[in-house]
Amino acid sequence: MPNNAATQAARLSVAPMMDWTDRHCRFFHRLMSRHALLYTEMVTAPAVVHGDKERLLGFDAREQPVALQLGGSDPAQLAQAARIAEDFGYAEINLNCGCPSDRVQSGSFGAILMENPALVAECVAAMIAAVRVPVTVKCRIGVDDQDPAVVLPDFLAQVSAAGVDRFSVHARKAWLQGLSPKENRDIPPLNYDLVMEMKGLFPHLHISVNGGIATLDDAVGFLDRGLDGVMIGRAAYHTPADILLEADARIFDDPLGRTAEEVVHLMLPYIADHLAKGGRLGQVTRHMLGLFQGRPGARGWRRHLSENAHVDGAGPDVVLTALEHVTRLAA
Ligand SMILES: Cc1cc2nc3c(=O)[nH]c(=O)nc-3n(C[C@H](O)[C@H](O)[C@H](O)COP(=O)(O)O)c2cc1C
Repeated sequence: MPNNAATQAARLSVAPMMDWTDRHCRFFHRLMSRHALLYTEMVTAPAVVHGDKERLLGFDAREQPVALQLGGSDPAQLAQAARIAEDFGYAEINLNCGCPSDRVQSGSFGAILMENPALVAECVAAMIAAVRVPVTVKCRIGVDDQDPAVVLPDFLAQVSAAGVDRFSVHARKAWLQGLSPKENRDIPPLNYDLVMEMKGLFPHLHISVNGGIATLDDAVGFLDRGLDGVMIGRAAYHTPADILLEADARIFDDPLGRTAEEVVHLMLPYIADHLAKGGRLGQVTRHMLGLFQGRPGARGWRRHLSENAHVDGAGPDVVLTALEHVTRLAA
């Protein structure tokens, strides 16, 4: 297993989430953990090849280590997209084999690729030949009426034989018909034991578990039980301080010693830069609403930002006033 920066960081990662883990979100998350691996939203390979590359791929070097997640199933096009992404500086390229949305299915990629490990193997082989950074895969345990106990080991065997040695496994099936993407993140039952078994079967692979992990305690529990990494999505987004602020201390043995209030202050120059480039405050602060979740003043913080960050001309003062809802009650 190569010991590169992204692989070390993969002990804890924030999952790729469309519309959520954009560059502003990642910058914010990075202020809470220097070490966790941060994933982009999924970007399709054709978009990378033909679209506005700076808009789709541009990011701030201070977000590193960042992994780009690609969607696609054409080996040559994925290889081309991976090469472009490597030139942008991404620390890892990840292939999406877990997303069940209709839009993705009609493009024949995402979770439907669980039915075609030979094609996934071809795709990753082409990507690996094109880049030096790690190529990784995020997958499900199966789709529809597949038997995960059969399908998952076969998938891992075929795809790892093509050169991938790091996987994130969302520990539930996806139902390609009848469930919405949102339902597909909640309704199919979680099967963590199967993911643990995969670590036993493939001890040389780096395996991260994903799905329904709500606390840092749970994440540490999985690592203690022998998994290599834990990937957290919704909890990291909705309660970022609970998941990320202690992550460097508890998972990477390198305490950060920073408070949520300090994170807000550290966001201010970033926000000022974004506004100076013509951006809007709400594009950044929408990711910060959950920062004080569970603390006195959290509701005032959230409400003040929600009501004011989208107003024309809104600037850093809106953030500082929102913060007073928390600091006043803490005093
Ligand atoms: C809003 C949203 C968008 C998502 N977009 C993606 C995506 O682009 N690519 C992907 O592989 N998974 C995507 N997912 C799934 C997450 O990466 C993750 O697998 C899932 O939410 C389960 O983990 P969790 O229970 O920790 O949230 C998305 C999830 C959410 C909530």
